[in-house]
Amino acid sequence: MSFDHNATAALSSRIGLGLAAVGRPGYINLGRERDLPAERTVAAMRERAHEVLDAAYAQGVRYLDAARSYGRSEEFLAEWLDSRPQVRDVLVGSKWGYTYTAGWRADAQVHEVKDHSTGTFDRQLAESRALLGKRLDLYQIHSVTPESPALTDTALHARLARLAAEGVTIGLSTSGPAQADAIRAALAVTVDGEPLFRSVQATYNLLEPSAGPALAEAHDAGCVVIVKEGMANGRLAGPAAPAVLHQAAAAADTTADAVALAAVLHQPWADLVLSGAATADQLTSNLRATSVRLDAGRLAALAALAEPARAYWQHRSELPWS
Ligand SMILES: NC(=O)c1ccc[n+]([C@@H]2O[C@H](COP(=O)([O-])OP(=O)(O)OC[C@H]3O[C@@H](n4cnc5c(N)ncnc54)[C@H](OP(=O)(O)O)[C@@H]3O)[C@@H](O)[C@H]2O)c1
Repeated sequence: MSFDHNATAALSSRIGLGLAAVGRPGYINLGRERDLPAERTVAAMRERAHEVLDAAYAQGVRYLDAARSYGRSEEFLAEWLDSRPQVRDVLVGSKWGYTYTAGWRADAQVHEVKDHSTGTFDRQLAESRALLGKRLDLYQIHSVTPESPALTDTALHARLARLAAEGVTIGLSTSGPAQADAIRAALAVTVDGEPLFRSVQATYNLLEPSAGPALAEAHDAGCVVIVKEGMANGRLAGPAAPAVLHQAAAAADTTADAVALAAVLHQPWADLVLSGAATADQLTSNLRATSVRLDAGRLAALAALAEPARAYWQHRSELPWS
């Protein structure tokens, strides 16, 4: 299925579901001890992933986001699609460029290794295809920074353009304090005069809004903009959320996570906003964001939560894997 503004505008929800928290036993989000199965066996995480996918689909979510490095996220997603033949109207995105190295351990020394070479692309595309087959609508380079060779590697660009010619939309996700530079560099990449990247996934939330202007440019350039980490890995949800967010939630008779995501949904360039829910209840709570209205005064009060990008990413890099 094509992955463009017409396709995403036709979806029943601007909220998508990301599988980073449920595709593997270890990740950096804050409340995993509280929210995940005590025994994080493959079977337990598969069951949890399918529970969250069922809750998402039942409530209108139609974009599903996986990655090679999210453990067995693609496998769990493929099994879920296989076992629910009635599900024919979802858009599926995945990512290459990070290799999962944790061996299904939450306490691994190294959980993932980044490499954006053509060799890794060839290997991981074959792995994603073997699991998702023709259901792969969007394939993203995982966590591009301005230093990434993927931004200048013309041999890689030629491979990506060939995949695009097969009907898969080419995208990238960005990370780090210089996301805006990586986004603008990607928008300038062309193959045979045609822009190569047609989707950008970036971190944007009340604590880290620095990529906003570049994302607006990407949207205006025709790219589908996907927002990730809308809840700052749990720092803007539940008990960890700052007081001003709880005040806004109380005023709107809702929850902090819903207000955090609503603040992102208020951005006209945000085509899709990902929920990273670890439970079906979190997903349902996150979806309330679509009915939360925030006036200019409230948005301005919330915008005061913004941190310097360097401080935000330094803090994120120190979040423990659990
Ligand atoms: N580089 C990349 O491309 C990249 C990087 C990161 C994420 N992503 C994508 O973006 C998606 C979302 O990002 P994310 O999961 O990293 O971060 P996030 O959406 O900012 O945070 C999600 C976490 O917030 C907590 N939470 C959510 N709702 C809650 C509620 N109602 N009450 C209490 N806690 C709640 C949960 O963590 P706990 O239950 O653990 O508290 C949940 O796992 C991922 O699944 C992935 O698809 C991509």
